[in-house]
Amino acid sequence: MTTPLKFTMPFDAMTIEHLGLRLYSTLPPVIAELVSNSYDADSREVEVTLPDGNITPSSEVVVRDYGHAMTADELQREYLPIGRCRRGTGGAEVKSKSGLRVVTGRKGLGKLSAFGVADQMELRSVKSGDAVCIRFSFTAMKTGRTPSRLAPRTSPR
Ligand SMILES: Nc1ncnc2c1ncn2[C@@H]1O[C@H](COP(=O)(O)OP(=O)(O)O)[C@@H](O)[C@H]1O
Ligand SMILES: [Mg+2]
Repeated sequence: MTTPLKFTMPFDAMTIEHLGLRLYSTLPPVIAELVSNSYDADSREVEVTLPDGNITPSSEVVVRDYGHAMTADELQREYLPIGRCRRGTGGAEVKSKSGLRVVTGRKGLGKLSAFGVADQMELRSVKSGDAVCIRFSFTAMKTGRTPSRLAPRTSPR
């Protein structure tokens, strides 16, 4: 059996609330943030799966790309830090890992956009033999309660 990895995402609860997450109150700009991350990850293709009919609290939206993905180590160093500015303090252009694209990301906040419209976000990444899955709960992040003590998901898996 694989030993569970331990990841950390240090943040201040008030910061999360005030970071402008609520600027994302509709789905299209949230999807745009996630697709821009796929672009920055050198993906040549992105699939967005939306539910049929109306969006409800149990709806699931999936954004899947085929870019360079992240190992567990990259996830901890590059994805989880909130406010990590990949362009450095000068805001200079930065190339993607392939060197072929100028990255669009800048403030290290795009991943949080999903919490403007959803309470739960699941990240899956497979790279170099690492398969990582992390589930984030906005309620748990705000309240400090662990997700296991929160109500289970209602949507079918
Ligand atoms: N789909 C993805 N594939 C690979 N790496 C990703 C992906 N999404 C995010 N990342 C990594 O996580 C980091 C943080 O993403 P984000 O919060 O959107 O901030 P930003 O795009 O401004 O850097 C990115 O800089 C990138 O290193
Ligand atoms: Mg981004």
